[in-house]
Parts: sequence; structure tokens; C-alpha cells
Amino acid sequence: MTSSLSDRPALEPPSIEQPLLQASNLHKSFGGLKAVNGAQIEVRSGSITGLIGPNGAGKTTLFNLLSNFIRPDSGEVWLDGEPIHRLAPHQIARKGMVRTFQVARVLSRLSVLENMLLAGQEQAGERFWQVWLQGKRIGRQQRELELQAMEILEAVGLAHMAREYAGSLSGGQRKLLEMGRALMVRPKLVLLDEPAAGVNPALIEKICDRIQAWNREGLTFLIVEHNMDVIMSLCDRVWVLAEGQNLADGPPAAIQTDRRVLEAYLGQTA
Ligand SMILES: Nc1ncnc2c1ncn2[C@@H]1O[C@H](COP(=O)(O)OP(=O)(O)O)[C@@H](O)[C@H]1O
Ligand SMILES: [Mg+2]
Repeated sequence: MTSSLSDRPALEPPSIEQPLLQASNLHKSFGGLKAVNGAQIEVRSGSITGLIGPNGAGKTTLFNLLSNFIRPDSGEVWLDGEPIHRLAPHQIARKGMVRTFQVARVLSRLSVLENMLLAGQEQAGERFWQVWLQGKRIGRQQRELELQAMEILEAVGLAHMAREYAGSLSGGQRKLLEMGRALMVRPKLVLLDEPAAGVNPALIEKICDRIQAWNREGLTFLIVEHNMDVIMSLCDRVWVLAEGQNLADGPPAAIQTDRRVLEAYLGQTA
């Protein structure tokens, strides 16, 4: 032990603070293709963590494994110190982790508000038709959900569209609605799959502001995104995936100049 090191307060053990989300040794093959091949990731509580990598690197598959939309061939996922890799997506949502999809999954023929209300109920594991049939009797609970939904719509700038068909929203507005839907279960951690893809620049800025505001209120994010400006301005830590494996992780500035990362992106159009 050198004196210069012993002068420092402490060489902390690597994980004195348990990460909010931790996954290790995840594998998923589609036929002969190893989409995720032994990947790991950690998301610290209160962070905005990025996940990047060339097209086909396995980012969306990794999201699907983390949220158990696809069952991993092997590997473990822990949320708040609890194993979640055997839980159904709605059970995981109830424990505080929700995700959005690369292609926003909004129900075009329902209103924006109905989309929000359904999200709360679906993610709580209830069935669409059950909720619909009981709709009248639920009464008060429904009104509370509506208030919550309207508050969130206000925050994402869609309150004025609440009664419109979700199908009439622009691509960017759909992304905002999907983020709003995710928020309906009051999660701790939100996984966003390409929140800026196909969104016009003005709206991208709005989405970033929203993510930051929610983060200041205590929400943790894991974000897959191709738009490097978004990743670099939002994230405190970035994980890089290539060919289903971890390539690097660290602060955004270091990742941006990492030779291995730059090489992995060479020849990519994204
Ligand atoms: N359901 C699936 N069936 C077969 N192959 C898939 C499936 N999902 C993804 N893949 C393949 O797995 C690899 C990783 O895909 P994906 O996770 O979508 O990458 P990324 O999100 O990083 O672009 C790609 O080669 C893709 O074609
Ligand atoms: Mg993807």
C-alpha cells in the first residue's frame, strides 16, 4: 500500500451501494444467432444510464430480457436486490420497473386519456375487458386514475389532446404518450427504447427535458438511444454493447473517445 493511496479517504469496495438494477451473464439465442451473449449491466438508483451499440448489437433484446418480455436462456436480473428474472412483465412493473418499446405501442383507436388509463390497469395485471366492463362501478378509483393520468399528460404536454384519438398523434407525441403510459404505475425505474427515434428535433428537446425533470424527482432511467447528443447530454453512465456482449462502460465523455467503441461503430450508418 503506497502512502499516496492511504492518504485518500478510502478505496471503496466496488458496490457499497446496491444498484437498483443489476443483470449478469444474460444469454439469448434466436436459432443459431447469439443476440445477447453473456451481457451484464448495472443501473444505479437515481441515475440516467445509457445503453448504446451498433444496430443489431442486442440492445432491444437485452431490454426484453431485463423486463422478461423474452425469457433469457440463462442469466439473472435483480431489482432492488430481489431476483426478478422469473416474474412476468406485469409483476415486474408492480415492483417498479417498466419499459417502453422502440416502436411506440399506443392504441390508435382509443383516446389519449384511455390509453393512459389502460396502461395503469394493464400493467397492474388486470385484463382489458374486465376493467372495461367494471368501468362504471369502479367509480372513485377510476377518477383518481384519471387525475393522475391528466397530471402526467400535462407534464408531457399532451393534456390538450386527452380526448383525441391516439392515432392522430405525431410520432414524437406517441413517444411522449408511451412514456406517460409507463409512468402510470408510479415506477422507480423506466427503460426507454429509443425515445428520440423518428422524433423531430424540437420534440426531442422536450422529451429530454421531461426525462431530466422526472429524474430530478427521483425516477431512474435506462435509455437505449442512437442519438449520441441525447445520450451524452442525459446520461451519467453509458454501457456499450456489441454483438451481444459488453464492450465498455463508463462516463459518457470517456465512452465517446473509447477506441473500441469507435471501431464498433465504424461502417455503421446509424
Ligand atoms: N425475435 C427475434 N427473432 C430472431 N432474431 C431476432 C429477434 N429479435 C432480434 N433478433 C436478432 O438479434 C440481433 C439483435 O437484435 P436487437 O436486440 O433488436 O438489436 P439492437 O436493438 O441493438 O439493434 C439482431 O441480429 C436481430 O436481427
Ligand atoms: Mg433496438
